[in-house]
Amino acid sequence: MRSPLEVLEPLQESAIRAGLMTRRIGTTIHLFQEVDSTNDEAAALAGRGEAEGTIVIAERQRQGRGRMGRQWQSPKGLGLYLSVILRPTIPPHCAPVFTFMGAVAGAEAIERTTGLIAALKWPNDLIVHGRKVGGMLGEMAVEGSCLLHVILGIGINVNQTETDFDEDLRQTAGSLRVEAGHPVDRTAIARSFCESLDGWYERFLCDGPLPILEHARRRCLTLGRQVTARSGDQEISGLAVELDDDGRLVIRDARGASHRLLAGDVTLTG
Ligand code: BTN
Repeated sequence: MRSPLEVLEPLQESAIRAGLMTRRIGTTIHLFQEVDSTNDEAAALAGRGEAEGTIVIAERQRQGRGRMGRQWQSPKGLGLYLSVILRPTIPPHCAPVFTFMGAVAGAEAIERTTGLIAALKWPNDLIVHGRKVGGMLGEMAVEGSCLLHVILGIGINVNQTETDFDEDLRQTAGSLRVEAGHPVDRTAIARSFCESLDGWYERFLCDGPLPILEHARRRCLTLGRQVTARSGDQEISGLAVELDDDGRLVIRDARGASHRLLAGDVTLTG
């Protein structure tokens, strides 16, 4: 176990690589002090032919992105900001499974490293003790009907304290440090995430998307809850009954009609 002071040290490529037990994920590591967005760096590398499994990590993001055009606060040295290049040979409409794969791998990494129980909130949030501690951003490059690559980005709030978050986030955001009650080793989280993702990606290549979706269902705190979902200018309220085999959330409204959402924002209402 590393001491709290060591835990707050800068990330080092050699330390992440040491003992990393993966076949694909993290075979090449690009560590930056500062980038606009690790997803953008990874996409640029992928466009230049960088191999599958390459990861990009940064100590700080100037323009970290969340879903739906939101900002992802990425202060220096406190969080994990990591993107992975994947090159699966699947049609583009199957790519959403990677968001769930990343979220399950993120939840497993949090649990193995801290002992905290992490749940998923559809579609991409990592939740500990009811607070959002992380999120996934999956982006893809497509040519015609061909998927060229997927960039799977994960952001985890690791060593932030409450005041490191902007005021408007303090009611909902959390960090592993606050929830665990002590500083947390970002290197260990990064390594554990890569190992977990490596295992799930291998499983996906052998068995397809259903095993990962099954695991996502088990961790999904949205299922069985009353929700209001917003997608574009559509708003649907009802019971979240299912995560279907395409990763869509199925909501049954008060009249018994089912709605399948591929993307959107969900608020738990009961
Ligand atoms: C969300 O919850 O809306 C998704 C947040 C994803 C943030 C990560 S941090 C690493 C990668 N680079 C980005 O700009 N975004 C993702």
